[in-house]
Amino acid sequence: MWRTNLKVAFVGLLVIGFYTSIAHIIPQLRSEVPIELDLSAGFTADALVSAGQELFEGAGGCTACHGLGTRAPSLLADYAGEGSIGNRCGLRPGGLDCKAYLYQSLTEPEAVVVAGFSPIMPDARRQLSVEQIWALVAFLQSQGGEVTVTADDIPAQGSAPATPATGGGQPPTFSQESDPRQLLNDNACLGCHVLDGTGGPIGPSFDGIGQRLDAAAIRKAILEPNADVSSGYEQMAGVMPATFGTQLSAQQLEIIVMFLVENQ
Ligand code: HEC
Ligand code: HEC
Repeated sequence: MWRTNLKVAFVGLLVIGFYTSIAHIIPQLRSEVPIELDLSAGFTADALVSAGQELFEGAGGCTACHGLGTRAPSLLADYAGEGSIGNRCGLRPGGLDCKAYLYQSLTEPEAVVVAGFSPIMPDARRQLSVEQIWALVAFLQSQGGEVTVTADDIPAQGSAPATPATGGGQPPTFSQESDPRQLLNDNACLGCHVLDGTGGPIGPSFDGIGQRLDAAAIRKAILEPNADVSSGYEQMAGVMPATFGTQLSAQQLEIIVMFLVENQ
């Protein structure tokens, strides 16, 4: 039963070619998600964990925020003396056990926001299948804790996706857009920012922005617009929406950041 169900689950994990192709054009996201997993060896919790690790480091886009830096709490190493994520996952407000908390943090990230951080994490259901999300949960549990994800957690293919204990339906998926100019247009950035001499004059121009800001500063300005207000635009503080972290997929965010940083 375990094996049959996991076999089904793994078929879902294979359908990641599209994200791999996107990840290839983003230099700093690692794109090592295998197109094929070796299924001949049989399926074990270990295999689920390693599939989760591939997603975490690659197509899941998690390291864009949870890599080095201060945008999001470290998951693989200690954060705030509470240990790595597999250790601290059962200690969060709400009383959920580790597995339920991790599933909730991926699918309803706004339900519990770790103190000191902004609610910028996107709902993983917008770009990952339910099987992929469970693989990530197994990987995160393995970071200092015990893996308790079983085949029973993973719905059979074709059945309705599992809804978390706390409810909440399937959110809309991200657009598949990967052209930076189109993304800036679709997300109304150009209503407030000028590009190539045209656009709205409400925020600083994007023309030559790469001379003033590096990738980290641009990323931060998009995810947390109120953290540092651009000089000369103090009166406009609070005008830029703080919701782009959840509106853009991690890949789309990086496409925009790279495009702007190269706009010298
Ligand atoms: C756009 C930035 C961003 C991306 C992308 C992102 N996260 Fe997060 N994540 C955060 C932030 C900020 C927090 C802390 C605030 C909160 O709890 O929402 C967080 C919190 C978490 C937590 C809870 C940590 C704790 O200590 O309780 C987990 C687990 C997590 N993220 C996993 C992931 C995984 C897995 C991915 C990839 C599928 C991912 N995140 C992608 C920004 C991000
Ligand atoms: C409703 C208007 C508005 C929208 C929409 C908007 N911005 Fe902004 N943006 C601003 C304003 C005003 C500032 C300057 C004040 C501040 O830093 O918050 C700013 C600042 C920035 C900065 C820092 C620029 C610098 O030179 O310091 C970047 C980068 C940026 N925005 C990118 C974006 C991107 C990318 C989008 C679309 C995904 C976007 N903005 C959408 C109004 C907007």
